[in-house]
Amino acid sequence: LKAKMILEKDFKISEVDPRIYGSFIEHLGRAVYGGIYEPGHHDADERGFRRDVIKLVSDLQVPIVRYPGGNFVSGYNWEDGVGAREDRPRRLELAWRTIETNEFGTNEFIEWARSVNAQVMMAVNLGTRGIDDARNLLEYCNHPGGTYWSDLRKKHGYVQPHAVKTWCLGNEMDGPWQIGHKTADEYGRLALETAKVMKWVDPTIELVSCGSSNTSMPTFPQYEATSLEHTYEAVDYVSLHQYYGNRDGDTASYLANSMDLDHFIKTIISTCDYLKAKKRSKKTMNLSFDEWNVWFHSNEADKKLEPWSIAPPQLEDIYTFEDALLVGSMLITLLKHADRVKIACMAQLVNVIAPIMTVNGGGAWKQTIYYPYLHASVYGRGIALQPVVSSPKYDSKSFTDVPYLDSVAVFNPESEEISIFAVNRSLDESLILDCDIRSFPGYSVIEHIVLENDDLKAANTLEIERVKPHTGGDSSARDGLLQAQLPKHSWNVIRLG
Ligand code: AHR
Repeated sequence: LKAKMILEKDFKISEVDPRIYGSFIEHLGRAVYGGIYEPGHHDADERGFRRDVIKLVSDLQVPIVRYPGGNFVSGYNWEDGVGAREDRPRRLELAWRTIETNEFGTNEFIEWARSVNAQVMMAVNLGTRGIDDARNLLEYCNHPGGTYWSDLRKKHGYVQPHAVKTWCLGNEMDGPWQIGHKTADEYGRLALETAKVMKWVDPTIELVSCGSSNTSMPTFPQYEATSLEHTYEAVDYVSLHQYYGNRDGDTASYLANSMDLDHFIKTIISTCDYLKAKKRSKKTMNLSFDEWNVWFHSNEADKKLEPWSIAPPQLEDIYTFEDALLVGSMLITLLKHADRVKIACMAQLVNVIAPIMTVNGGGAWKQTIYYPYLHASVYGRGIALQPVVSSPKYDSKSFTDVPYLDSVAVFNPESEEISIFAVNRSLDESLILDCDIRSFPGYSVIEHIVLENDDLKAANTLEIERVKPHTGGDSSARDGLLQAQLPKHSWNVIRLG
């Protein structure tokens, strides 16, 4: 197979907002308890934060982490999780049918996020609650002092405001599974009034309006069109969520799912732009893809869990090599839309559909999907370049005209390096890539990182890392032409400088 690509310094998509490499921690399963927080663990600090996890998260350079849900937030009373631990109530957690001890809450999360150098993206409960609790939580977090809620924060030991900038107005309110599920009009009205009041409390914040939970929702994309009729001028982003799975064992179709992701993003951009025109608005709405990943391996195991336990192993997908390829392709797709997607959160970060796994009382390890996420986050900062690609294509059961080559490049003006991210979707053949880099005279290959494995179902464990990258990729650059060989079903990062 042969493919061609042209990279031109001036063909810019946009500057990449680093927050597209965000992630998510929900009060769900072992994400918090046994994941980021495990007092008594031999490697925990004095606050109970696992140092091994902090290290793995820090290496990923995660710029922003969404919290505390997810479906959890729609039944959450944030007041339960602040103040003296011994006074915090245990509650039935209805979204995931567990018991929430509230041992960990808002202040602990903000401290933890600081310890990994990440911003916080906080969600408010628009399921069982509304304007009053949203404004109180915001006052508690961001108001300097001299009022009931801000003084309570001080009393709890946090003299300086937390200065949380980005806030989600609820979670997946289009989904019947959501506590307090709402029609688009019901949600739009509530979100608008909540947004209005929250911006009165703190005009410096940014707000995210809920959109569709996935492209299969019967209300997609009308939910966005109707709810944004209400919220368009009051919010800064609309939210998108999407998970994929290879339930039929059809890898060719599975790897093409990033085309559905692309379709999702384009549809929501069109919906936002239609509203912009209709409202004669000057504002262009940006997108927050605040939940995305592969999620299906753990579905059956989760059905067998007994309800009402504390931090059970829920949504513990063990990822395979092919999942890492799709994750790589999803990252490429987000980068291709860097002009409108300004925030994205891999869902989630630890133990729950996550790149990082832990053993309670034991070690921490990297799943297969850790690697494309790491590479994109570390090497994908700068300006996304519009790739002009000519690739042979294939037809699969669910998608036609799927390019074997999925690729995008990022130019970092500070380091003057280019990173080409590329997935070869072919299950049988390697792909020879000829890439025109004449607008980068004198550039040569720094390294060619490859994630490859003969076994598409290979997975990692605490003991054995079967899927890990190597830097022995085959590529060279001369006289403005980069030539690279991308092994069959592989993820590649070609760094040039
Ligand atoms: O990330 C797991 C769950 O997926 C979240 O709680 C919810 O928002 C989505 O349905």
